[in-house]
Amino acid sequence: MECNGKVYLVGAGPGAADLLTLRAARLIASADIVLHDALVGADVLALAVRAEVVDVGKRCGLASTSQSFIGRRLVEAAHRHRTVVRLKGGDPMLFGRAQEEIDALIDAGIEFEIVPGVTAAFAAAAEIRSPLTVRGLGRSVTFLTARVAKGEGPSQWWRAAVAADTVAIYMAGRQLADLAEELIDAGIPAARPVALVSNASLSSVQWQRLTLGALLDPRMSGGEAPTLLLIGEALAWRNPANEGSKRVLISGAPEPVSGPQRRLVA
Ligand SMILES: C[S@@+](CC[C@H](N)C(=O)[O-])C[C@H]1O[C@@H](n2cnc3c(N)ncnc32)[C@H](O)[C@@H]1O
Repeated sequence: MECNGKVYLVGAGPGAADLLTLRAARLIASADIVLHDALVGADVLALAVRAEVVDVGKRCGLASTSQSFIGRRLVEAAHRHRTVVRLKGGDPMLFGRAQEEIDALIDAGIEFEIVPGVTAAFAAAAEIRSPLTVRGLGRSVTFLTARVAKGEGPSQWWRAAVAADTVAIYMAGRQLADLAEELIDAGIPAARPVALVSNASLSSVQWQRLTLGALLDPRMSGGEAPTLLLIGEALAWRNPANEGSKRVLISGAPEPVSGPQRRLVA
């Protein structure tokens, strides 16, 4: 069958629609069909004014559409439509299983293009007003997930965390105590500053500054919200500019124990 369609793997950013790139917004507005992840919000989807909008629900850990099914849907969509947008949370090239989709498109001979987006770690750093690199405290950043795919075998994921100055752990929300234990066992001091940030860039954002050791408390959880764990000396509470966030971010929240934060403890 002849195929005139082109597929765009588009980064939807961390949630706020106005953090989309201009290119992403234009493509969404002109798309014939948009296939999106579960984390892509209604404000972003509202830009798809003329498209058929399909939830292909990739949400880590929760029931999600199989990757091969998504690949087939993309190929099928490219045969039926001229502009196919595959909207993926954050940046499509980071923990987004983009390779499987790219493989499916290449195998089917379909033209495609990647449109980057703001990844969650950058949105989280912006929320808490802490740079991921700070002169003398952090000159390297690692993007990490401790989750392993079925059949991948044992992972020594913590090695990368030990080697980096600042670590951004994705898909961290529901396994904080286990992660902290493994990192401390691997040699990261329990006193290392961390920040937990859920729903970065959205009005429902929650965040909290702690130490790695404090995450051993089993009550600590990001719950079902997308949560990122930042670890590193660069996260230490020493930036006077952060004082402003106390007023902006914690209105209505209980008084913080140390420094401005939005509590995540159940
Ligand atoms: C499957 S990964 C996709 C990451 C995405 N490609 C990116 O670049 O941000 C999903 C994870 O990203 C993180 N995440 C996504 N959006 C977030 C947000 N708004 N706030 C905090 N963490 C977020 C969470 O750790 C979540 O479990």
